[in-house]
Amino acid sequence: MSESAQRQGDAFENLLHEERRFPPSEEFAAQALAQPSLYEEARSRGTEFWADQARACLSWETDFTQTLDWSEAPFAKWFVGGKLNAAYNALDRHVEEGRGDRMAIHFEGEPGDTRSYTYAELTESVKKAANAFESLGLQKGDRVAVYLPMIPEAVITMLACARIGAVHSVVFGGFSADALRSRIDDAEAKLVVTADGTYRRGKPSALKPAVDAALEKEGSTITNVVVVRRNNEPVEWTEGRDVWWDDVVDSASSEHTAVAHDSEHPLFILYTSGTTGKPKGILHTTGGFLTQTAFTHKYTFDLRPETDVFWCTADIGWVTGHSYVAYAPLINGATQLMYEGTPDTPHQGRWWELIEKYKVSILYTAPTAIRTFMKWGRDIPKKFDLSSIRVLGSVGEPINPEAWMWYREIIGGGKAPIVDTWWQTETGAHMISPMPGVTRTKPGSAQVAVPGIAVDVVDEMGQSVPNGSGGYLVVREPWPSMLRGIWGDPERFKQTYWSRFDDMYFAGDGAKKDEDGDIWLLGRVDDVMNVSGHRLSTTEIESALVSHPSVAEAAVVGAKDETTGEAVVAFVILRGSAKDDDDIVTTLRNHVGKEIGPIAKPRNILVVPELPKTRSGKIMRRLLKDVAEGREVGDATTLADNTVMQQIAASLRK
Ligand code: WTA
Repeated sequence: MSESAQRQGDAFENLLHEERRFPPSEEFAAQALAQPSLYEEARSRGTEFWADQARACLSWETDFTQTLDWSEAPFAKWFVGGKLNAAYNALDRHVEEGRGDRMAIHFEGEPGDTRSYTYAELTESVKKAANAFESLGLQKGDRVAVYLPMIPEAVITMLACARIGAVHSVVFGGFSADALRSRIDDAEAKLVVTADGTYRRGKPSALKPAVDAALEKEGSTITNVVVVRRNNEPVEWTEGRDVWWDDVVDSASSEHTAVAHDSEHPLFILYTSGTTGKPKGILHTTGGFLTQTAFTHKYTFDLRPETDVFWCTADIGWVTGHSYVAYAPLINGATQLMYEGTPDTPHQGRWWELIEKYKVSILYTAPTAIRTFMKWGRDIPKKFDLSSIRVLGSVGEPINPEAWMWYREIIGGGKAPIVDTWWQTETGAHMISPMPGVTRTKPGSAQVAVPGIAVDVVDEMGQSVPNGSGGYLVVREPWPSMLRGIWGDPERFKQTYWSRFDDMYFAGDGAKKDEDGDIWLLGRVDDVMNVSGHRLSTTEIESALVSHPSVAEAAVVGAKDETTGEAVVAFVILRGSAKDDDDIVTTLRNHVGKEIGPIAKPRNILVVPELPKTRSGKIMRRLLKDVAEGREVGDATTLADNTVMQQIAASLRK
């Protein structure tokens, strides 16, 4: 195991002595959708378990003839020969089957404006958008960049693309113009769908200028920009390219037939950070993705679509917002809440107020949010009626036991089961998670593989580790919602995920099995950081820093942070002419913001005279991490120049 994994392992050692156990209540267990028999069924049916789920969760226009074709591994084909339309499954069929009046989305804007869509209304809106996009020349297979805030049009756009067979590539609204452009270029997108802006912390915040800046440089593949009117701030306009959503969508016909696409037809690309500077376009296809997201949404959250109100707080810019906002809840015919803004506007009780108002019964959020609420104090949620809550979910990073307990006691009233769901952009859907009516939960552990999924923890050699030991998290068998590749780069796909261990998917996470065989996630073992549940690559931020003329060299590490889990800390060596002062730090932080986006701005930038390197020139990030976390610096004997750490310490004392 690598040194960093070893250290993480040590840090989490105390977790394994966590002895609190929370079995589901008898009532919950008795009525739960997932019963112990679901695990038995998955075991006995093997791959055919997923065929059963695909037919139970989805309506296929043409049934599939083969469940899995793994003959060209690691390139999988699931539900071969099947044809279906994602938007039809999310919308039309509910209307056809008499569920048209059921609420699909309650939307609440940050300023307090509200909108709601029944399944019939949402279907009509998606049909109109599909017609509008087609009238702009969009065809099956074309790529669409989506750069939108958390407003219903984001979901409408994604489903309208899926309906046509166009491939959406959502770019988080917090990413910069440069980041947007590189994603547009990589996917060769034809259309951008954006908004004039959104609201953030009570103020209008613009989005369109970033799109304009992204398209400024010649040679983009974009033919049109569709602009949703959200905050009515003035925008610059490029005639012939820019069109208002109101103009093209509102006037479009609400008749649109959803044509069935192949089960393996691309559904979307979502860029995520890897260990190199260039983000990877993770590709997901239709049948498998929808099957596993719908299946997990139903069983992990014990979903009752007739009565539950589901709220996943993730932005659609991340995979969680794809799987558990745009797709699964609608495939399952659920009612969900969508909220545009920040949790502290206009007051720190906004989320709890929303839960009380909409009677949210299933809340799915990230540990970083929970830790923020803990800091704000329990008195705030205590002011609201949260009794509607019956299941709580966590995602994005390991949840520390204190946050888990707080979540359970303060938000879940001491009784709602917590499901800590481990998964990735690449896996498409939950892979490790308790089942709320079955699993005796342990604070801080995701525990067990989802029925039908084969995860394991292995050592350097790929051997399964015994209970009580740690290693690397792998997936041993293909799964329906697995990524089908990296857009335009099949070699990188093989290299990144399938070369570390033969025939196994390497997730990039370290993990331990406790004495019961339950899995505890220990964080990334590669150069990927996890800041507030958002994935950032150390290399990508280093590249951004050295692209600034004042920077000669840069090294970035993720340092432990009480609220955000990890924080970005950068060490830079300046070029001879550059001055080491507060200005340079501000300049460099802003530069990273411009290159990647505000979320990637380092918390600290430390100007140093040297970086610690091995004789082969590899930066020893582990030592920098010690500095960043204020620890005594570890073993530095393999450094080419072992005075470097003293030089760094001396320069930081200055
Ligand atoms: C981390 C987010 C511990 C993990 C869905 C993974 C988690 C990365 C958990 C993927 C969890 C996600 N416990 N760690 N429950 N969920 N992670 O692609 O390191 O944004 O590899 O997908 O987040 O991040 P991504």
